Amino acid sequence: KILANTIFLGKDIHYLPECHSTNDEAMQLYKQGKAREGSIIITDKQTKGRGQRGNQWFSEPSKNLTFTLVLSPSFLDASQQFDLNIMITLAVQEVLAQYTPDIQVKWPNDIMHRYEGKLGGVLIENSVSTRGIDMSLVGIGLNLNQTDFAFPGPTSLAKLTGSQVEVWEILRLIVKTVENYYLRLKRGEVELLRRLFIQNLYRYNEWSAYRDQMDGEFLGKITGITTEGKLKIEKESGQLNQYAFKEVEFL
Ligand code: BTN
Repeated sequence: KILANTIFLGKDIHYLPECHSTNDEAMQLYKQGKAREGSIIITDKQTKGRGQRGNQWFSEPSKNLTFTLVLSPSFLDASQQFDLNIMITLAVQEVLAQYTPDIQVKWPNDIMHRYEGKLGGVLIENSVSTRGIDMSLVGIGLNLNQTDFAFPGPTSLAKLTGSQVEVWEILRLIVKTVENYYLRLKRGEVELLRRLFIQNLYRYNEWSAYRDQMDGEFLGKITGITTEGKLKIEKESGQLNQYAFKEVEFL
């Protein structure tokens, strides 16, 4: 199946019935010169899916989306890596929001339903040189038609809407939307993307429970993100903090 409608993204598709991880496959193909900017590696069954923070990513075969996009955003330098997170999560959020309300982005790169739990996540692996970000492997895992989960926490589009969705249709929309946002980023429209990201940010400006090294559990509210992608939280005590990826936990 060909992804129409795009300029460069998804013109080259590597479909694998089964693989360990589409991010690892993408890396291999890239090294062999068989994948380049715009290539997509997609599988029905991932046997060693990887998530953020060294977690595993489980997905019921054939029901969901598990794929990797290859980008070469050399117009960004290492300090701008978070702009990729913003652009990708926003695009995915926007597509799913066409199917059901209350879809948000949870910092740094989860796709959430505001009340029902996690729908998916993004794992971005960059290779950076002095020239900038030479290669970015954008792994996306989304629960679409899976309705049984081994542990509490996740949800899926089918669980939320009560009907099955066409996996390829969602892929087509995501690819189209990512391409649009990627080209905006390239044109320097990062402020627009940041604004949209904040507008759709899970728990933005709401008092909720968190945990950090300094205080343990505390009540705080998210007030924004820094340009490097740190999460800004105002504590009940009035103290303002900035957190890197593993420094704060949502309770
Ligand atoms: C997370 O929420 O922790 C991120 C999950 C990312 C999973 C996707 S599925 C396709 C790609 N291949 C992987 O091994 N991981 C990502």
